[in-house]
Amino acid sequence: KRKMRVQHLQQMKQAGEKWSMLTAYDYSTARLFEEAGIPVLLVGDSAANVVYGYDTTVAITVDELIPLVRGVVKGAPHALVVADLPFGSYESSPEQALATAVRFMKEGGAHAVKLEGGERVADTIHKLTAAGIPVMAHIGFTPQSVNTLGGFRVQGRGDGAEQLIADAIAVQEAGAFSVVMEMVPAELAGQVTRKLTIPTVGIGAGVECDAQVLVWQDMVGYTGGKTAKFVKQFADVGGQLRTAAATYADEVRRGVFPGPEHSY
Ligand code: KIV
Ligand code: NA
Repeated sequence: KRKMRVQHLQQMKQAGEKWSMLTAYDYSTARLFEEAGIPVLLVGDSAANVVYGYDTTVAITVDELIPLVRGVVKGAPHALVVADLPFGSYESSPEQALATAVRFMKEGGAHAVKLEGGERVADTIHKLTAAGIPVMAHIGFTPQSVNTLGGFRVQGRGDGAEQLIADAIAVQEAGAFSVVMEMVPAELAGQVTRKLTIPTVGIGAGVECDAQVLVWQDMVGYTGGKTAKFVKQFADVGGQLRTAAATYADEVRRGVFPGPEHSY
């Protein structure tokens, strides 16, 4: 099995092969996703929501994310592991971003980092790539800016389309190896995908992107409450886990578990 590298993703775009990315936050899950053949794993700052239970991604820190990266890298030795730079860890200056990215690589073992923004972070992307750090950009709806974007809403509609295209071109020119587009009209995302030479990764951005990404808990019914329109539920792992836990508790209560076959 080959070790996934950014060059392979580039080659897949040229060959017209679509690929998938999932988030991962721990060793055991990363191992399963590696076995499933997912080439790229993202230790997203969505860990704020699904691991730590915070209301937004704004709250999570570098120190909370790095140990998760270590587990994922351990569990998926062939995957390309991308670590999200959390809010507040890269906006001050390209130097601050470099120092943070270096921590994710040295302490976490990440192979690449992801950061939110288009034109406004171009200098930062250039700084990191010049230092040998592969960067994935993230444009369209960027959750760390939820407070200025007016909530969770589709980006790039109307006048916003031009800005989205400008952002996509800016991150590619700055050296990003790939760009996530979140909550962007499918037609616009397709247009951007055809325009760029680097692979686009869609989440709520239609089928024409070169790749797709989802938060894994969302796609298996593991998150409580309502999920976004762009989420498809591929299994009910949440329901299965709940049933398993309830059955276990019931068998313990009734003295059915452990049976003789589980005893010494
Ligand atoms: O943090 C995250 O999970 C993400 C993806 C959904 C793109 O940024
Ligand atoms: Na994120």
